[in-house]
Amino acid sequence: ILKKIGFLVGSLRRGSYSKKLAKTLATLLPCDMQPVMLDISQLPLFNDDLDVEGPTPAAWVTFREQVDAIDAMVIVTPEYNRSIPGVLKNAMDIGSRPGNHFYGKPALVVSNSIGSAGGYGANHHLRQTFTTLNIIPVQRPEMYIGHTNTMFDEHDLVKNQGTLDYLQSGIRALVRVLTLTSLADSVNNV
Ligand code: FNR
Repeated sequence: ILKKIGFLVGSLRRGSYSKKLAKTLATLLPCDMQPVMLDISQLPLFNDDLDVEGPTPAAWVTFREQVDAIDAMVIVTPEYNRSIPGVLKNAMDIGSRPGNHFYGKPALVVSNSIGSAGGYGANHHLRQTFTTLNIIPVQRPEMYIGHTNTMFDEHDLVKNQGTLDYLQSGIRALVRVLTLTSLADSVNNV
């Protein structure tokens, strides 16, 4: 069966390097996995009143349905002031209610930066949120991608073969975690 891999990108910027990384990562999926780009740019800011009293924004409903439909995620995020961008946290908060739509889904975190630290702070802040949502992290390889401003060709794809191999190893690890969790789900009482 075709598995759906959701791509969440923590930048709304038109020329975003995170978007270009996500585009490259999508090309590295095995052929029985389909990339689904989750658009978070139209999500109104989370406010619990809108769920409790209504009306729930249509964009929230659509996003939650999209999260329900995916089997695993790749989250590509820049670092803003040593943490994740607000737009990504907003999307995580919306998807966490009501009933936590992220529950039990494996996720690969790919943080990135034009600097050399590769968004280390953002990467680990995001993993803290994973714990309470029971998102199953790919532990290794840890993907901190630095120097993104020199990384892409004219088609917005990663040009360096070593970097491509590294990104491929991240996708391979995600596939492994998804395979293991799917197997556990298919067996009673595990
Ligand atoms: C940044 N940037 C940045 N870089 C970093 O390594 N650590 C940081 O804490 C920050 N903080 C930060 C805050 C804000 C508000 C902006 C706009 C930028 C630089 C960041 O890595 C760079 O702008 C990336 O290109 C952003 O990712 P996208 O939009 O290209 O995906």
